[in-house]
Amino acid sequence: MKITSMPLPEGPLSGDGALIIYVFSEESLPSAKLSPEAASSAERLLNEPSFKAKKGKISKALLPGTGFSRLWLAGLGDRKSFDGEVLRSVSAAVLRSAKAEGVSRLSALLPLNPDFSLSVAAAEGAELGGYSFDKYKTKKEEDALPSPEEFILYGGDEKGLSLGKTLASAQAYARDLANEPGNRSNPLTLSETALQLTTAGLQVEVWDEKKILEEGMEGLYSVGKGSATPPRLVHILWKPEGEENKKIAFVGKGITFDSGGLNIKPGDFMRSMKADKTGACNVLAILRAAAELKLPLEVRGVIALAENMPGSRSFRPDDILRMKNGKTVEIDNTDAEGRLVLADALSFASEFSPDVIIDMATLTGACAVALGNNIAGLFTPDDTLAEKLADSGKESGERLWRLPHDDERIFESMKSPVADLVNAGSRYGGAIFAARFLKEFVGEGPAWAHLDIAGVDFNKEERSVYSKGASAFGVRTCIRYLLSLAAR
Ligand code: BES
Ligand code: MN
Ligand code: ZN
Repeated sequence: MKITSMPLPEGPLSGDGALIIYVFSEESLPSAKLSPEAASSAERLLNEPSFKAKKGKISKALLPGTGFSRLWLAGLGDRKSFDGEVLRSVSAAVLRSAKAEGVSRLSALLPLNPDFSLSVAAAEGAELGGYSFDKYKTKKEEDALPSPEEFILYGGDEKGLSLGKTLASAQAYARDLANEPGNRSNPLTLSETALQLTTAGLQVEVWDEKKILEEGMEGLYSVGKGSATPPRLVHILWKPEGEENKKIAFVGKGITFDSGGLNIKPGDFMRSMKADKTGACNVLAILRAAAELKLPLEVRGVIALAENMPGSRSFRPDDILRMKNGKTVEIDNTDAEGRLVLADALSFASEFSPDVIIDMATLTGACAVALGNNIAGLFTPDDTLAEKLADSGKESGERLWRLPHDDERIFESMKSPVADLVNAGSRYGGAIFAARFLKEFVGEGPAWAHLDIAGVDFNKEERSVYSKGASAFGVRTCIRYLLSLAAR
């Protein structure tokens, strides 16, 4: 979709398609900007008892005689509680409506000046609200209708709109990858997708299962062993011109399907485990955006790809693995596979001595139980990094909540009688256990943060900027974090 701005004209607005007027509760309309017909329609819509400019409500009328075919009022709720996230989610709702009704051109007027950051939010909402994953539907409900092609923001900031579109497109790219089911997406196809990013100016290297084993990554190798499709390690690098750039590494969990392995999941819990690769898909999207934005930072992505399946070649409970950094791990539960593939990827990423390592993973059901479906878990020993990531999350409307990773009692429970560590323990504190486990595989130098996105990676229902399915939560937050580093 094209997202542009248009200067606000002196007199009444005219155009075609839908005119969208965003309005705060208990406030009047910009009547001077409307033709007499439009003004009286708008007044009637505003006073509909069910509308009242409540947040996310859209009130609609046909609008003959003004050029625009329709007039929509989009409620923003109270001015007092307004922020970028309100604008983002209301814009997403507007786009969802436009898609359902076949409106191809939208002209939007805000009740305040759309500065840079509001323009970013409006563009993000518009782009993400228009997203759906319907490539496998042979009969699309909207087939007969035109799809939204242009979103115009009166007085919008061009740079802000363009950044918003870039951020949202990155998230949509990750969603498209994560939404692919296990019969169409596996470690091989995803590593092919990664290789295609070389055309975007990135360096990409793929290790096959032989190389993975040679390099001592028995964690990644073993998790992938039970599948007919072997594991892959993908290493991507964005290296800008010039030396002396800050080095940031992203590490992603890429389990293309998590059946649980021999500790097989019950059916209800296996559903939506195609999205267990979201961390890896997010990392691909972040690297792609780093190249697109030509960030003055050295950004590295390491993704560990495997399919966790039961079979005669599967790794087993009681197995003892020797990990890349030399530590040994006894397997308690083959369903605690994410920490094993991440452990090797984290050790590998640490070898490049980055300033910061951020890993992203749909790691534990326990994190989803603790924080629900709207807030991701953030674990880090570094207070500055915690604050910066949480701030970037706030700007993106993606909430992160810091949880402890350093509980020594949990660490004691991780010691195995026969190996250095055991991969799973009590259900209590399961997200902390997993984070503490990962820490054993991060080198000494880098500041490290772990994002547990298990509760937020997949939506059963539409809401805010999310459509049904993979959310790619975390993509925009991480790109904003990179932008904040680049700005200094
Ligand atoms: N991929 C799952 C975690 C998950 C659960 C993601 C729900 C998204 C939604 C992970 O590999 C897993 O199975 N974790 C186990 C660990 C346990 C066996 C220690 C869990 O959380 O139950
Ligand atoms: Mn699992
Ligand atoms: Zn998993």
